[in-house]
Amino acid sequence: MIVLEANERRVAVRAPAKLNLYLDVLGKRGDGFHELESVMQTITLYDELVVERSDAPGVRLRVEGRECPSGPGNLVVRAAETLLSAMQERTGLSLFLQKNTPLGAGLGGGSSDAAGTLLAVARLLGEGRVDRDELSRIAATLGSDVPFFLIGGTAIARGRGERIEPIEASDTRSFDYVVLYPGREASTPRVYGALDLSLTFPRHNLRHFCQQLRRSAADNVPNYYNALTTPFRASYPELARLQDRVVAETGRVFHVTGSGSAMFCVVRDEADGEGLLQELGDMRAGEAFSCRGPAPSSDRTTADPSAAGSR
Ligand code: C5P
Repeated sequence: MIVLEANERRVAVRAPAKLNLYLDVLGKRGDGFHELESVMQTITLYDELVVERSDAPGVRLRVEGRECPSGPGNLVVRAAETLLSAMQERTGLSLFLQKNTPLGAGLGGGSSDAAGTLLAVARLLGEGRVDRDELSRIAATLGSDVPFFLIGGTAIARGRGERIEPIEASDTRSFDYVVLYPGREASTPRVYGALDLSLTFPRHNLRHFCQQLRRSAADNVPNYYNALTTPFRASYPELARLQDRVVAETGRVFHVTGSGSAMFCVVRDEADGEGLLQELGDMRAGEAFSCRGPAPSSDRTTADPSAAGSR
């Protein structure tokens, strides 16, 4: 998360989207969730969130950009209310969300907004009143991906996705990506429901994948893997056809992130990405974004000019 502004009345942050560079499902658990091994990475595609103290009681949210709930149905509101209650704090909050990241796309936008809200509210109400462990515990109650976004960068996620092991930024290669949102959402429970665990063997090797992300690794592209690709394609045949079409027409590999519907392609550099954006635009394949990962995950107040381009 990047803090754009912070004072005693107002905190503004950038909440990055993520890609799953690697996602293996190890089994189904008794609580209905799946046991995962994943490598997640934040990218320079951002929502913006402003949290302000308000004289009116309660939490109010205003959203611009993409259509999404502005009441308790939005994870941002639940995040703010849960933290206020944990801190036994009665102040009112007024939230503003500039929603840029597509929803239902496997890009973690809602989870990132929720994590950004927790960090921004904690900062607004006074650093030190709530510790990181408490924030992580609250984050895990909001959604499996939320704890990752408290840290960001590149990290291994285990368990339901909530057990995070950061991968040292100084040791991680960075990549330019083009992310394609095909204009239609995918349902995470539906995709998990279509997963046939007997088809996910043999297990892929997380340790080997992490080595490929290291700066010291050879220059070739890592072996991206996502066990949810097959159930995603079976659940959404028209999106599987679109994936096949963009692969055939561009001659590039597009990987599904999370449970879809977005797909990403590694490009050589920004210029290569711009060329691919143009091609995808000509094909009317959906909305495409040029971005880089990992996104800077500093907690400093900074103006980062590297916002994602889009068409
Ligand atoms: O935790 P979150 O609300 O993001 O999960 C959404 C849905 O995704 C769950 O209801 C479940 O169907 C599926 N899921 C899962 N195993 C995980 C994470 C998510 O089955 N580790």
